[in-house]
Amino acid sequence: MREAIALSQSQTNSSQPPILQLEQINRSFNSGNSQLHVLKEIEFDITKGTSCAIVGPSGSGKTTLLGLCAGLDTPDSGRVLLDGSILSGMNEDQRADIRNKKVGFIFQNFQLLPTLTALENVMVPLELRGGSNNEIEHRAIELLSSVGLKDRLTHYPSQLSGGEQQRVAIARAFINEPSVLFADEPTGNLDAETGDQVEELLFNLNKEKQTTLVIVTHDMLLAQKCEQQIRLHRGEIAEQRFGKTLTQTGSIPSIPV
Ligand SMILES: Nc1ncnc2c1ncn2[C@@H]1O[C@H](COP(=O)(O)OP(=O)(O)O)[C@@H](O)[C@H]1O
Ligand SMILES: [Mg+2]
Repeated sequence: MREAIALSQSQTNSSQPPILQLEQINRSFNSGNSQLHVLKEIEFDITKGTSCAIVGPSGSGKTTLLGLCAGLDTPDSGRVLLDGSILSGMNEDQRADIRNKKVGFIFQNFQLLPTLTALENVMVPLELRGGSNNEIEHRAIELLSSVGLKDRLTHYPSQLSGGEQQRVAIARAFINEPSVLFADEPTGNLDAETGDQVEELLFNLNKEKQTTLVIVTHDMLLAQKCEQQIRLHRGEIAEQRFGKTLTQTGSIPSIPV
């Protein structure tokens, strides 16, 4: 039975419209002879400019859900609306176009292009859009510097540590100034200090550019810094809460947005 508990509804930013709306989402995968029903009747809204954490045990469907929200995948039934557009009704090209304009995505396993340097990887999303190469390069260098990788511009992914690859992936997700940034366990591979810096970068982007954050995490401290928390259990929403229980502190400089 689905049991969605909404606490402190008044703490949501009701003056803003939702940027993301999920309506009765179902997603299954074929598993041998049987169907694996990974997401069941998922429904929630995320308000523009807010932050939302998705938590839950491994295998509960978090990555699958994030992919559907970002238009990387489509549901078997139900609708996903991104900024009012019905993402789940679009073809692959239309979804790619919306992703390029509005979405940043930080993958759990980074997904950097192995034959491109750190700098080139970060430049890719803006190059797809077109524009002056000098400006794109300048912006990519600025972003890589802000995640502490000024001295790694010409390194290839295989020459970078896991944490460094994660930071390149973050810089790449920031470069097109997305309206909504999806991050799949963005601090999962980082040491505590680097993890804190990445958190700070994410929340600065949220505060300064009103970028909506949707973060899958196992880090309950990070989840509590988000204004909305959704807990998945075996593909269902087990709990939904509104309201931060921790505030973001620190003195890491803002990302140059
Ligand atoms: N493309 C796929 N094909 C088959 N099974 C999948 C696929 N993607 C995910 N799954 C299964 O769906 C379940 C949820 O996976 P996932 O969304 O990655 O969970 P989480 O991110 O919470 O660990 C897992 O049991 C996984 O094996
Ligand atoms: Mg996952």
